[in-house]
Amino acid sequence: MEVIIFSGADQVAEYAADIVGQMLAHKPDCVLGLATGSTPVAMYRCLAQRYRDGALSFARATTFNLDEYLGLDSDNSHSYRSYMRRELFDHVDLESERTHLPECAPGEDPRAVGPAYESLINKCGGIDLQILGIGRNGHIGFNEPSSSLASRTRVKTLARRTVSDNHRLFDSPAEQPGMAITMGVATIMDAHRVLLLATGEHKAEAVRAAVEGSISAMHPASVLQAHRRVRVLVDEAAASRLTLVEYYRRVHTQAEWIAGEFSVSGVCDPWFQDGDG
Ligand code: GLP
Repeated sequence: MEVIIFSGADQVAEYAADIVGQMLAHKPDCVLGLATGSTPVAMYRCLAQRYRDGALSFARATTFNLDEYLGLDSDNSHSYRSYMRRELFDHVDLESERTHLPECAPGEDPRAVGPAYESLINKCGGIDLQILGIGRNGHIGFNEPSSSLASRTRVKTLARRTVSDNHRLFDSPAEQPGMAITMGVATIMDAHRVLLLATGEHKAEAVRAAVEGSISAMHPASVLQAHRRVRVLVDEAAASRLTLVEYYRRVHTQAEWIAGEFSVSGVCDPWFQDGDG
């Protein structure tokens, strides 16, 4: 895994926005996998600013969000659809018909949403770049500990810890859903590239277990160790429990040197040079 350590959360956001910008430049009709939560907010602000500056365009892109609460109307201010509108969709030139979340319409069988979402992702050619945050219990999307590593988009019951971590975002406990529809672990693993963002001391243990722990369904993010192209972007605080910090820094410096020496014209990052996806 490539672990890149930044001085602060702003630097993580800028770098993540650089990668999304390069993805859009390399493949304007790319498929982006998007995440919610507090962590990617700063990245979305950078992207909106860069769009206003004319530095990038989402006009031909398609997006698939990781997850959506079950039992909230998409217009509810706490839905992830509303979050995405607030943080990104309303500020850039994405076509709304090409923005997807695993939403369950009133009266629809929630068990039917996952297979349809998977088919749509496949029909669009798969996810070129997946953005991820990480829960304090190691969840990615809403794949809670014990999620099958082979799981696909489906209904998940939220862990108590996840519900309590997200209390602050709801006005009352009665409003907070206990279930969601989330991409599965295997759906995430199928993405061609993955960027995991984590900032703050409260994520340090989850990051350590994901990067340096054993691969286990009890810490779903750890399965990313088996992904070919994943970058873990962390600030100093989130990196504070990693044991190989010095090594990760050296790897990054040397990779940047090689990229600088042997870059292919017009393509800035080796991630985008070798074709597949
Ligand atoms: C939520 C989301 C995840 C997100 C995680 C961390 O439960 N479903 O996709 O990564 O929480 O959120 P935050 O960035 O707010 O810590």
